[in-house]
Amino acid sequence: MIGPIPKTLLPDNASVDNDGMLLLAGVRVDSLVEKYGTPLFVYDEAHIRSRCQQAVRAFGEGVSYASKAFLCTAMARLAYEEGMHIDVATMGEAYVALEAGVPASHLVFHGNNKSETELQYAIDNQVGRIVIDSFDEIDRLENLLGDSGKEIQALIRVTPGIQASTHEYVTTGQNDSKFGFTVSTGWAEEAVERASSSSCINLLGIHAHIGSQVFSLDSFRKAAEVLANLSKHFELPELSVGGGLGVAYLEDEESLSIEEWGRTIKSVCDEAGVTARVTAEPGRAIVASAAITLYTVGTIKELEDIRTYVAVDGGMHDNPRPALYGSGYETFVPSRVLDDRTSRITLVGKHCESGDVIVSDGYVPEGLRVGDIVATPVTGAYGHSMGSNYNKVLRPAAVFVNGGSDRLVIRRETLSDLINTDMGIN
Ligand SMILES: Cc1ncc(COP(=O)(O)O)c(C=O)c1O
Repeated sequence: MIGPIPKTLLPDNASVDNDGMLLLAGVRVDSLVEKYGTPLFVYDEAHIRSRCQQAVRAFGEGVSYASKAFLCTAMARLAYEEGMHIDVATMGEAYVALEAGVPASHLVFHGNNKSETELQYAIDNQVGRIVIDSFDEIDRLENLLGDSGKEIQALIRVTPGIQASTHEYVTTGQNDSKFGFTVSTGWAEEAVERASSSSCINLLGIHAHIGSQVFSLDSFRKAAEVLANLSKHFELPELSVGGGLGVAYLEDEESLSIEEWGRTIKSVCDEAGVTARVTAEPGRAIVASAAITLYTVGTIKELEDIRTYVAVDGGMHDNPRPALYGSGYETFVPSRVLDDRTSRITLVGKHCESGDVIVSDGYVPEGLRVGDIVATPVTGAYGHSMGSNYNKVLRPAAVFVNGGSDRLVIRRETLSDLINTDMGIN
């Protein structure tokens, strides 16, 4: 027997009315379904703002929102309004942030294989920081800047040799990684020396990102120690520890707060005598638990003594994380949010893949029927942003709710969006 969905997995401003219906920021969830249809991402705007404020309090000026977690112009604008800079990993992410009115000086441009076009875009727009990832990139930057007299501001991304305990696809700090300059081989020092002596690179600091969905403060501590040593050695003014703070998706998981994370990093750096500005770039911790996804049940298939498949109108196109990493989620029924969830289901999508499973072990109240709305909480990060048009499905809409009202921030795609880039039959 499983109780109601825990409040800790719902956005900050979730409440329940007398009918047992979930409200987010004072807006009834069924009214959102009526207005926008399903699948639908619903974000609690005040929740996101509060996480941005926590990040700014924990790290101060320069802390960035890692926009790969979820990006649209409204999101970039919100993070900027709350005092965050924006981490972008492609020209596309940079474009969206600039379209949102975020000053280029507030962009931190990442990528392990930035093309010449992307680097030129970053140079032309005078982005705040380019995070250099390879010796080839130093060559490329020097070629592009040549004798122009222009100078870019940069950080050097290093791989500190830390194996963070998380899914192997999202660990990035270990030596065997496609990212950054390895510290233990001396490449990191060599890169710092090369960039410092370049006439077109103003090297401001070093950066590392050890991975995503990391719960162990110890992994962060170890990475910060490596960075602190390098930073002191070269006396560079900035140091970024990247993102990666883990978030609870399941009832029995517990996560650290942004404040605890910040305090740990800062204390390691203080103890090591670092004078550089210490900063970070959280993505998931800002947006993940701010959103839920709403789906409509289309078919129910009961296999006696095996399992009950509940198929909904979404799937791996709006949340590929379960298929990619085996990630777990909870399920609940927003119109019966206080009811015990006694019925075990497997929530699946509508794609032609047996692996199109959204939640393999979900629980809902007894008596779920076709046409009911089922929700998954903590879907604000790496759902919409990693989504696709697989099977030519229409990517879902996203809505922000705040103070009793809602605003559509990403509209649902239409059939004509599917042939926007299609050159036709001739
Ligand atoms: C360089 C860099 N910074 C920050 C992040 C954000 O990570 P998270 O969303 O886990 O905080 C990532 C994620 O891949 C990253 O690659």
